[in-house]
Amino acid sequence: ASLLGRNTFHVAARAQMLVDVRKPAALGELFGYAALRAQPLLVLGEGSNILFTRDWPGVVLAIAAHGVRVLGDEGGRAHVRVEAGEPWNDFVRWSLARGYVGLENLILIPGTVGAAPIQNIGAYGTEVREFIVAVEAWDRRAGQLVRIAKADCAFGYRDSIFKRERDRYVVTAVEFELVRERPLRLDYAGVREELAAMGIEEPRAPAVAEAIARIRTRKLPNPALLGNAGSFFKNPLVDPARAEALQREHPTLPAWPAGDLYKLSAAWLIETCGYKGLREGDAGVSDRHALVLVNHGHASGAELWALAERVRAGVLGRFGVELEAEPLVV
Ligand code: EPU
Repeated sequence: ASLLGRNTFHVAARAQMLVDVRKPAALGELFGYAALRAQPLLVLGEGSNILFTRDWPGVVLAIAAHGVRVLGDEGGRAHVRVEAGEPWNDFVRWSLARGYVGLENLILIPGTVGAAPIQNIGAYGTEVREFIVAVEAWDRRAGQLVRIAKADCAFGYRDSIFKRERDRYVVTAVEFELVRERPLRLDYAGVREELAAMGIEEPRAPAVAEAIARIRTRKLPNPALLGNAGSFFKNPLVDPARAEALQREHPTLPAWPAGDLYKLSAAWLIETCGYKGLREGDAGVSDRHALVLVNHGHASGAELWALAERVRAGVLGRFGVELEAEPLVV
């Protein structure tokens, strides 16, 4: 089966077998087949955070279950269950249309609801873990559906147990807690400016969503028009001494405190190496945002990966900082 239309890098890759799962209840039966159990398994949502550098030598499961269900709504607090195949952005818009506050900063993030907890999607000062109550998944080790409470999900920056134990869990649904009152997060660079440019003085959640959608549309290439998987590298975490030394030498390097460490701007490191807009054949570094690798046409996954390696080596050579890929690289 071709995976060309199943990954936003638009890379030509194939799988031995592709199964679209509309009902998570069918997973039990599916994994009942010994022949299937023995094969390498890859779970795909919208394919917006993956780079195939080769074909997948086994089964690809696409979770296509849809639906949003309010389990309870009392005292301004709603408990909502969303099936894994629901597009993330549709859920954000659903929540805003019903007057819930919180998901506005996560507007326009590509991918499915089921993929959201895997890398704990985050943007503009907010991470999805703040809203998650529990994640429902098929546990391949236990051979059953399990409900994993938030405290057991090991959420971190672009990290969770679902990412660490990719072979074990197939996320089937996510439970969220949404509220109607909550302070807006406007402190991320550019948000207040955008609201001001829109002429909005007392923003509410939908206006914040609109401002962030505008910023994203300007900064990030649209994968429907130009193949990409968003940020290709994570912002590197370094210890405070390291961050201070780098900032002494490079005063314009953006760095933010992150727990006991500092998060550096990978985009700045890449741009400063002169890679923004770089192109090798059809593989390129976006000229809009240095953290995004793009496929200008027919780049293979291997070519995109070679470019990523070149960027990584350049940043390491110049700044001594290791960049780590953010999407799953197959
Ligand atoms: N910058 C550059 N050059 C560029 C772009 C940015 O030097 O080409 C610098 C700017 O100085 C800016 C700083 O980098 O102040 C941060 O840029 P931006 O606000 O675009 O955020 P980011 O740190 O590059 C992260 C996420 C994005 C998310 C934005 C906004 C990661 C790996 N990426 O990018 O997430 O949208 O913050 O919150 O953490 C994704 O994960 O795919 C993704 C797009």
